[in-house]
Amino acid sequence: MKKNIMLMAGPTAIPEREIKAMDRQVPFHRSKEFEDITKELNANLKKVFKTKEEVMVLTGSGTAAMEAAVQNCFSAGDEVIVAVLGVFSARMASMAEAYGLNVTRITKPNGEVVTVDEVMAHVTENTKGVFIVHNESATGVTCDIQAFGEALKDTGALLVVDTVSGIGALEFAFDDWHVDVAFASSQKALMGAPGTAVICLSQKAWKAVETSTLPKFYLDLKLAKEFGEKGQHPWTPAIYSIIGLNESVKMIVEEGIDNVVKRNDKLSKMVVEGMEKLGIHLFAKDPSYASKSVNTFAYDKSPQFVSKLAEEYGVQIYNGQADLYNTTFRVGTMGYVCETDIAAFLYAAEQVIKELEEGDK
Ligand SMILES: Cc1ncc(COP(=O)(O)O)c(C=O)c1O
Repeated sequence: MKKNIMLMAGPTAIPEREIKAMDRQVPFHRSKEFEDITKELNANLKKVFKTKEEVMVLTGSGTAAMEAAVQNCFSAGDEVIVAVLGVFSARMASMAEAYGLNVTRITKPNGEVVTVDEVMAHVTENTKGVFIVHNESATGVTCDIQAFGEALKDTGALLVVDTVSGIGALEFAFDDWHVDVAFASSQKALMGAPGTAVICLSQKAWKAVETSTLPKFYLDLKLAKEFGEKGQHPWTPAIYSIIGLNESVKMIVEEGIDNVVKRNDKLSKMVVEGMEKLGIHLFAKDPSYASKSVNTFAYDKSPQFVSKLAEEYGVQIYNGQADLYNTTFRVGTMGYVCETDIAAFLYAAEQVIKELEEGDK
């Protein structure tokens, strides 16, 4: 007999309380009942983002919110800088290029972050945006968004942050850190069912929206804000995903966002220390910036390790991404994860590693 334990980089495990909330007949999305759900979710998301601004809920995954950021805040030909640290930050660069922005890529080797100085060396008075991934889920590194905010706040450039696998697990403060655009998906640290994305814009970013000339329709953020303020959505939204996300974000607010971050920190420490004892080390070049939500390790038997953990012990972790598939694995501590899940993972990991290493003898 096996019990499933999910330590995923997304979709993450969904709390039973959320599953119960979604187990119902579909409400009409223009009803008062759904309006109340939307209003509650929007208010709680502000607490999670630590902002006074509206947080808009879009139907679509995090990539849709990324697209909304580009379409709504920029125009073709705009000069932007994108730090490319892995697959997901590379997607921001490709998307900006697809919309005709003039993109300078700062590409770092896998397992490294970009520093503020490296980026600021490219910022000029013509720079309209700087795109930084908060937590690069593909390589397991975390950028210092607060430092980027400080450096960019008095420039003409918008700080656009992909915090898809950051917010809800790692420290984040939209207003205090002077972030201009931040977006995330429901199915990561926010513990929601896949299908919705969230995005927040500063006043500086809303000004840029006024001059943006790129075409926008489904993901028009002015429309999303206007409707969102009334507890509405412009189109038929992903109703079940929103009901689920409302419940999970309520859980985060009940626990307190700072306590959630502390819990994630503690779980990450348990995983890292446990793996070190088994002779397996973080992939990040410097542990000071290693991701604490998508803990990424270097191991030359990663694919076998990941599949044996699932098949023999019911413990689901993530394979490495793209070109890191064979040499890394990822352990998600974000979301609906507690100490006993980690203890079970470490027990199973020890057995599987013994098996794999003995097989080599
Ligand atoms: C850092 C990061 N950005 C963007 C995405 C894309 O999000 P989605 O799959 O919700 O479109 C992901 C998904 O894993 C991610 O981890």
